[in-house]
Amino acid sequence: MTLIRLDTLPRHLAVIMDGNGRWAHQKGLPRTAGHREGSESVRRTVRTCRKLGVETLTLFAFSEQNWERPVFEVRALMDLFREFLIKERAEVLRTGIRVRSLGRVQRLPIYVRALLEQLESETAHLGGMRLQLAMSYGGQEEIADAARRLAEKAKNGEIDPASIDEKSLGAELPSSEGGPVDLLIRTGGEYRISNFLLWGCAYAEFYFTRTLWPDFGEEELFRAINSYQKRNRRYGRVVTEEEHSEERKLAQSSATPAHV
Ligand code: IPE
Ligand code: IPE
Ligand code: MG
Repeated sequence: MTLIRLDTLPRHLAVIMDGNGRWAHQKGLPRTAGHREGSESVRRTVRTCRKLGVETLTLFAFSEQNWERPVFEVRALMDLFREFLIKERAEVLRTGIRVRSLGRVQRLPIYVRALLEQLESETAHLGGMRLQLAMSYGGQEEIADAARRLAEKAKNGEIDPASIDEKSLGAELPSSEGGPVDLLIRTGGEYRISNFLLWGCAYAEFYFTRTLWPDFGEEELFRAINSYQKRNRRYGRVVTEEEHSEERKLAQSSATPAHV
């Protein structure tokens, strides 16, 4: 079992949950069976992250580009989202999770959007883990939408265009509320970001695994966190000798087992 430290967890963990289709294909099942099994991994991951004490968990559930998939697959995914939102409501409320959606949710069918908005408003005041569900989400789209809003404000004389900088543009992005991404996990073996949190991943650490999303369990989550905890995040700076020896000490110290 992989050991992790509980004092240096990623504050913001983001996951590109990929590989459902291939998981199903390998078993001779329809792709939609992979999505169903994938929703079990979502449940597990949310539960483990909450118990560990991760502050923000952002899950890529459906991209803007995923609308291009066959209608029956999109429909099956929407039905699963609906089922997930209904089934998880009680546990989300009981455990104090704050649910937030990211993306152009107006594109979602009303039977998904209504449940999502209800859960968002019911949990807005809760102080537990922040769970961001990226649905109909694209990183470029999010930045473009924010730029348009700032342009409108400038046009109306509410802001000075000269005042727009990375801070004010960042603050306009809904995904920034969860803070910058510390660790991004992508399952399914692809080495790409597929238009996920482009802004927030500026200094994220990446963990890629060939494991297909329905097979992603607690042990592999711990492996990802353990790998993250061994990284040296420099943010463009030079590491001092003092920090080097601190790091060596950290690497040598035995990790605390996580009891979840
Ligand atoms: C990820 O699994 C789920 C969504 C994109 C909604 P995929 O459906 O992309 O699975 P693969 O990549 O085809 O295996
Ligand atoms: C990314 O997976 C989107 C989600 C996990 C929701 P995709 O399967 O859509 O990504 P590509 O097409 O392989 O880049
Ligand atoms: Mg995929």
